[in-house]
Amino acid sequence: MPVPINLSGFTNVDHNAQPQLCVQSLDAQLALPFFQAYKAQTFALLQLRPGQRMLDAGCGTGDDARELALGVSPGGLAVGLDFSSTMVSEARKRSLGSNRPVKFCQGDIHHLGFAAEQFDGCRADRTFQHLADPRQALLEIIRVTRSGGRVVIVDPDHESMLVDSPYLSVTRRFFNFRCDQMRQGTIAHHMPALFKDLGLIDVQVLPMTRLATDFVETEAIFQLTAGMHLAQQAGVVTAAEAANWIDGLRKEAAAGQFLFSRTYFITAGQKP
Ligand SMILES: C[S@@+](CC[C@H](N)C(=O)[O-])C[C@H]1O[C@@H](n2cnc3c(N)ncnc32)[C@H](O)[C@@H]1O
Repeated sequence: MPVPINLSGFTNVDHNAQPQLCVQSLDAQLALPFFQAYKAQTFALLQLRPGQRMLDAGCGTGDDARELALGVSPGGLAVGLDFSSTMVSEARKRSLGSNRPVKFCQGDIHHLGFAAEQFDGCRADRTFQHLADPRQALLEIIRVTRSGGRVVIVDPDHESMLVDSPYLSVTRRFFNFRCDQMRQGTIAHHMPALFKDLGLIDVQVLPMTRLATDFVETEAIFQLTAGMHLAQQAGVVTAAEAANWIDGLRKEAAAGQFLFSRTYFITAGQKP
C-alpha cells in the first residue's frame, strides 16, 4: 500500500511526482475504523439538518462531502473545495451517477470565493496542518459561515506521537523532526485558542487517540522506517542510531509488542 513519504506533500498535491499516491494514502486511512469514528464525530458536531448548506474545505477525494450531502438531504447542498485539481477531479469522478446534492470546486481556503454567510456549517479535516496561514484560513471559514452556524476543524497533533522503543532519545529527535516537517505540526492543540481569539463561541475540544499495535499497517500509513532514514539523511540521528531504532521496532513487532499512538483534536464552535 504505497503512500507519499513526504507528509507535507499534501500542501501542494499537484506538484508531487505522483499525485495519485496522495489519493491512495487518503483511501488507506479511511479504510481504518479510527478514521471513520473521528469523522462521524465531526459530522455529529456540525448538527446536520435537511435543507442546510455545508462546506468541506480541503475535501480531498470528496467522501466526507458526500456524507455531508446525505445529512442535508433533502433540499440542502454540500460543497467540497480543494486546492488540488487532482483531488477535485477524483471527487467529481467518485460522485458521478450519485443523486446526493454535492458539488466540488478548486480553491484556496485562505481566500474562499464565496459570499459572506453562505453556509450553515463548515468543516476542515486534516487540512490546517498543511496551511501557510491557519489564522487567515479560519477567518475565511468564519466569514462564509452564517451567524449561528457551526465550525468544526480536525487535525492530528504531530507533537503527540508516541512509539514504544528502548531508544527514547532517538524517538524524541525523530518525532520532533517529523513534527517540524509539517507546516503546522502543532496546530491541532492551538485550534481551541484560535477559535476563541476569532470570536467563536461554545468552543468544544474532543481529543481522539489512535492506538496502533499493527506494525505493518502503521508502516503503510506513517512510514516510520522510511521517515527514520530521512531523519538520518537530515543529520538528526546517526546511521547506527537509525539502524538500532528500526531493529528495535521490528523486534517489538515480532514479539507482538509494537505500540504507536497519535492524538487527533476535533475543535467545534459556533459563529455568534
Ligand atoms: C490530508 S488531506 C485531507 C483530505 C480530506 N479532508 C480527508 O479528510 O480525507 C489534506 C487536503 O487539504 C488540501 N489542501 C491543502 N492546502 C489547501 C488549501 N490552501 N486550500 C484548500 N485545500 C488545501 C489538500 O489538497 C488535501 O486534499
